[in-house]
Amino acid sequence: MLSVERLGAAYGESQVLWDVDVEVPSGRVVCLMGRNGMGKTTVLKTIMGLLPARGGRVTFDGADITRWSPDRRARAGIGYVPQGREIFPHLTVAENLRMAYLGCGRESRLTDALDLFPALKPLLARKGGVLSGGEQQMLAIGRALLTRPKLLMLDEPTEGIQPSIILEIEDAIRRIKTEMGLAVLLVEQYLDFAERLADSYVIMAKGAVVARGNTGDLKVEALRHHLAV
Ligand SMILES: Nc1ncnc2c1ncn2[C@@H]1O[C@H](COP(=O)(O)OP(=O)(O)OP(=O)(O)O)[C@@H](O)[C@H]1O
Ligand SMILES: [Mg+2]
Repeated sequence: MLSVERLGAAYGESQVLWDVDVEVPSGRVVCLMGRNGMGKTTVLKTIMGLLPARGGRVTFDGADITRWSPDRRARAGIGYVPQGREIFPHLTVAENLRMAYLGCGRESRLTDALDLFPALKPLLARKGGVLSGGEQQMLAIGRALLTRPKLLMLDEPTEGIQPSIILEIEDAIRRIKTEMGLAVLLVEQYLDFAERLADSYVIMAKGAVVARGNTGDLKVEALRHHLAV
């Protein structure tokens, strides 16, 4: 579904990604790991087109999208839940969800998001800004799904969220993979969560891939070396 080859990216003059390769097939969860500042968010931003690729190629659903605008990529089926969630704090939950599909040109129903996250149902009239971190994360994921993506990219969905809600989010991502058959690219530093969900992993250090493999083969030494665990 998604194929990233030799991707480079820079903020101004400073190059932060070097020859990054990532493959995300449909119905699979790939976890991008690495310590703070290693380039995980930058990979997602570049796949979304929010930052131009400086070298390399992004192929999605058979098309070379390397030069496409972010909204064209969204319309083609890339859903993105940024780090920190970025919901609209002054809009209600229902309005936040509606905003998602107004622009995407696809038919969607609020119930599609509510089936996955029933906890949002009683909160529909509440302003996004007063929700807990976990509720905001559910809203952000639900909103991204209403655009009917084929690939969902999630940037640290467990960051600052209480354990009971982490389990709900984990369950939702599992359903997104198995029932909806989406490709999922997950950035995550919470190792247990990543291990339970991911089919394969990619570890980054200083803007480059330093290890990759199937989650079952995740090596303790590699983790110690490249992650802060
Ligand atoms: N807007 C920006 N302008 C300049 N440099 C940036 C910008 N955003 C990130 N960087 C730099 O790019 C590098 C990679 O950052 P990135 O946010 O991709 O890391 P990350 O792995 O997502 O980190 P974290 O785990 O803290 O979210 C870092 O050195 C960071 O300082
Ligand atoms: Mg980040």
